[in-house]
Amino acid sequence: MDLFEYQARDMFEKHGVPVLPGIVATTPAEARAAAEKLGGGTVVVKAQVKVGGRGKAGGVKLAHNPDEAEAHAAAILGMDIKGHTVNRVMIAAGAQIEQEFYFSVLLDRAERRYLAMCSVEGGVEIEQLAVERPEALARVAVDPLVGIDAAKAAEIVAAANFPADLVGPVADAIEKLWVVYRDEDATLVEVNPLVKTADGSIVALDGKVTLDENAFFRHEDHAALEDELAADPLEAKAKALGLNYVKLDGTVGIIGNGAGLVMSTLDVVAYAGEQHGGVKPANFLDIGGGASAAVMANGLDVILNDEQVKSVFVNVFGGITSCIEVANGIVGALATLGDAATKPLVVRLDGNAVEEGRAILAAANHPLVTIVETMDGAAAKAAELANA
Ligand SMILES: Nc1ncnc2c1ncn2[C@@H]1O[C@H](COP(=O)(O)OP(=O)(O)OP(=O)(O)O)[C@@H](O)[C@H]1O
Ligand SMILES: [Mg+2]
Repeated sequence: MDLFEYQARDMFEKHGVPVLPGIVATTPAEARAAAEKLGGGTVVVKAQVKVGGRGKAGGVKLAHNPDEAEAHAAAILGMDIKGHTVNRVMIAAGAQIEQEFYFSVLLDRAERRYLAMCSVEGGVEIEQLAVERPEALARVAVDPLVGIDAAKAAEIVAAANFPADLVGPVADAIEKLWVVYRDEDATLVEVNPLVKTADGSIVALDGKVTLDENAFFRHEDHAALEDELAADPLEAKAKALGLNYVKLDGTVGIIGNGAGLVMSTLDVVAYAGEQHGGVKPANFLDIGGGASAAVMANGLDVILNDEQVKSVFVNVFGGITSCIEVANGIVGALATLGDAATKPLVVRLDGNAVEEGRAILAAANHPLVTIVETMDGAAAKAAELANA
């Protein structure tokens, strides 16, 4: 999970990384109050979106007083930056920047270790620097069992050719950023720019942090970092039910068991959809192996509540999951919904207890349910119904 800059700032502060004060605001009036709270002087109004290039898009603006902060916030709030709506701004204390540097540490999956990157030439153009003059961006491998200790931090700073007077303070900041990375179970900590200010101190002026969701169980505070303003209500509901659900923008709801089967179901539906007005999958929902009737019913509940869905394709290959459970889940969910169920369901079952499963559906004889034996046939039927 990616964090907003203001959340990264708070996390940096918690672990002793030098940062400037910053206050998040969701309205221009709150932005003004924040600027006043920071002393009424120069502040920077920064769009809080989980995408790079905010400054270039006009999402980072200097304000000399609270009036200007309010006006900039009014312009930035609601802006669209690369498809992300700005719902919040951060009012950050203004820094007197002398020099901008770059530092990041991330998970290097291919090498099965971490990778630190650092440059004395930081700022907004780091991607360009990495392509045009890769030698200016130091890349130092980090052993996960050792991490970035004082020696490793010194190695990184030396590789990036920092001037002698900055070696100590920059290495110190890097060691603290490593503590953030390690103690918060991050897969990315990036600071661009890390700056030297007019008074000679080293400060992290921007922060990008990605947390490893697999480690959430040992961080009670991480769940609260999720962006409830952006979360799709159906995705939130599915998550609460323990379902692997991703919303897409088509009209054929899809339920399957196992990520591989669901993914190929998306493909066959998209392919069949070409013959039926270009209909596409509405979602990805994997009920997993060994799913019970209750899980099946929960899945249907989520999909049928998606207003965009016109038809549903249930594609289950019974392995550990018995088709009896799946059929009972469908029949049970439809009984619970009663008249609220209005969308056609195409069901393709195969594998473990397929005959019994089909028999349960046939006996229920629900007017909305169509049983199709093959995956391609079922995809075509679901696409046809979605287009009807
Ligand atoms: N608190 C601040 N005081 C003074 N200048 C700042 C401050 N924060 C940012 N800046 C200036 O604005 C530039 C852009 O800010 P920042 O790095 O936060 O956004 P960005 O790089 O455009 O966003 P992203 O990193 O998402 O691409 C910085 O390089 C720095 O020069
Ligand atoms: Mg930046």
